Amino acid sequence: MATQIVLRNMGVEGANTLKGALERGAYSRLKKTFALLPGAVVDEVKRSNLRGRGGAGFPTGLKWTFLPKGAPTVYLVVNADESEPGTCKDREILYWDPHLLIEGVILASYALNSRHSYIYIRGEMMREHAVLQRAVEEAYAKGYLGKDHKCAGGNFRCDLTVHRGAGAYICGEETALLNSLEGKRGWPRLKPPFPAIKGLFGQPTIVNNVETISNLPAILEQGGEWFAGLGTPKSGGTRILCVSGHVNRPGVYELPMGIPLREVIYDVAGGIPGGRVLKGVIPGGSSMPILTPEELDVPMEFDALMTDARIKPVEARPGVLFDLGGGKQLRTMAGSGGVIVMDETTDMVKVCWRIMRFYAHESCGQCTPCREGTGWLERITRRLAEGRGQPGDVELCESIATGIAGNTICPLGDAAAWPMLAFTTKFRSELQARIP
Ligand SMILES: Cc1cc2nc3c(=O)[nH]c(=O)nc-3n(C[C@H](O)[C@H](O)[C@H](O)COP(=O)(O)O)c2cc1C
Repeated sequence: MATQIVLRNMGVEGANTLKGALERGAYSRLKKTFALLPGAVVDEVKRSNLRGRGGAGFPTGLKWTFLPKGAPTVYLVVNADESEPGTCKDREILYWDPHLLIEGVILASYALNSRHSYIYIRGEMMREHAVLQRAVEEAYAKGYLGKDHKCAGGNFRCDLTVHRGAGAYICGEETALLNSLEGKRGWPRLKPPFPAIKGLFGQPTIVNNVETISNLPAILEQGGEWFAGLGTPKSGGTRILCVSGHVNRPGVYELPMGIPLREVIYDVAGGIPGGRVLKGVIPGGSSMPILTPEELDVPMEFDALMTDARIKPVEARPGVLFDLGGGKQLRTMAGSGGVIVMDETTDMVKVCWRIMRFYAHESCGQCTPCREGTGWLERITRRLAEGRGQPGDVELCESIATGIAGNTICPLGDAAAWPMLAFTTKFRSELQARIP
């Protein structure tokens, strides 16, 4: 079993109250960290090779260095919107270990000089919100939040506001989230400027995922080198994977970074029920290209899933590989850790339609290729799923998906286009068979 960092308290009754959390070491890392200068904390996080767990896997310490030096007002915003289909990990941290997250917020706020930080939580997570809000109130009552701490640079005080979203997938995209937090419509912003330069209320802002921030207490307790040593050469720590679908033991697991996908399905999650055969697996939430049973021997790690030659590259049209730019071809991505397993009984055309339906519903409508294109993909895949496909439909889906990808303000368009192209590459004959 992997070292448990962020899910250490999952299932431990009472660990989500302040009393229970204190008994299990919560807030014990503050004093040690406040003895360091903020820059030293950033260096420790850089050493840890921690990479963002929200989807893109961007190195956290490096992102933090993009803040302008000496900015008078900086905000830290924690992304707890978690709404990628197949992903259900942040809610476990929020429910079972809210004080771990709050401690992480205080540590990151100190490193970044954020005097007022925010947690933006998905509106539907009512149970998690109640637990988190109570934990924030406990942390205020005890003086972890809202009171001065003595630190290497003098005094440091941090306030924390929990803000509930209204249940829009797009508000998980960091700039849509910032607009929503400001009370505006949750539409993504054009970048640049990136949030680190101009974010919340026009000020430099760092947006990080719940799991990312919850790793900080362990990093600052045991050191960046220790954390880096747990993972692969370029990705430190552990990784939460949410395994769902046709497995004997679906669940949320904290696993070694880089564990082979085959091991996740057949050992950790107990294999496929009834001895049935695997047909496909989505490795990182529904926006990530699907893998076939021949592609399971890849490490579940950010770079490997993008570049491993054992994964077939996705085609934009037969024979034309989908180009991500910079000489990279699209294979798949680790995304947000949602592993969706599908056995031989699965209707892949229906799965494809269901995924397109989600993105068409969630497109914010700001960019034409995404607004129109996701709707077209949904309608075409629906008629295919219903056995009413028309000649040329598969090619049409490819053409629309290629037109969306890379041509929108935010990657929601890619999130629909990439899986679409993976289905036409890997399950083409099944799609074609629905054209009478
Ligand atoms: C459409 C869309 C939805 C997203 N939803 C989430 C989400 O629910 N939670 C999350 O942490 N990141 C989400 N992201 C990624 C965020 O934009 C951002 O990269 C992330 O919060 C940064 O944190 P990290 O560096 O710690 O991963 C989403 C991105 C897109 C394009």
